[in-house]
Amino acid sequence: MVCLGNICRSPIAEGILKSKLTDKGIKARVDSAGVLSYHSGEAPDRRAVEISKQYNIDISMQQARQFRSSDFEEFDLIFTMDKPVHKEIIQLAGNKKQIEKVKLLLEFSGYSDNCEVPDPYYGGREGFEKVFRLLDQACDKIVEKLSHKRPEK
Ligand code: 4NP
Repeated sequence: MVCLGNICRSPIAEGILKSKLTDKGIKARVDSAGVLSYHSGEAPDRRAVEISKQYNIDISMQQARQFRSSDFEEFDLIFTMDKPVHKEIIQLAGNKKQIEKVKLLLEFSGYSDNCEVPDPYYGGREGFEKVFRLLDQACDKIVEKLSHKRPEK
C-alpha cells in the first residue's frame, strides 16, 4: 500500500487489509510505504490511528518508511492511493514486470469514479472517515479477488 507520506492513507489500508486477510485465514505479507521520506520512522497520524481504532484495528505500532526499489521484488502487488503517487512509483519501476505489479487501488477494486483515495492530511475528521470507508470497500475487493486465486485443497 503506497501513499505520499505513509502516515495517513496507506497505514490505514495496511491495517484493514491485514485484518481482513487474517479473518479469512489467508496468509499474505502486507506492508505500506510512502513516496516521501519526510515522515520516515514516525507512527501513523493520530487521526488515522483513531479512526482505525474505532473499527477495532490497531495501527499504532506501524512506522513510516519510504518506498524502495526492492519492494518491486518483494511484493506481487503494489497498490497506489492516487494518480500522482501512481506516476511516481511507475517511474521507479525498472522493467515491464515491475510496472505491471503497480495498481491504482480503487481501479483494481472496481471503482468507476476518478479512482483516487483523497489525501486527508490537511482536512478534518470527516476526511479520515471517508478514507476509511473507501479503503475498507477496496480491501474487501482485494480479499475477494485473492480468495478466488487460492488453489483448491
Ligand atoms: P498520506 O498523507 O500520503 O496519506 O500519508 C500525507 C501525509 C503527509 C504529507 C502529505 C500527505 N505531507 O506533506 O507531509
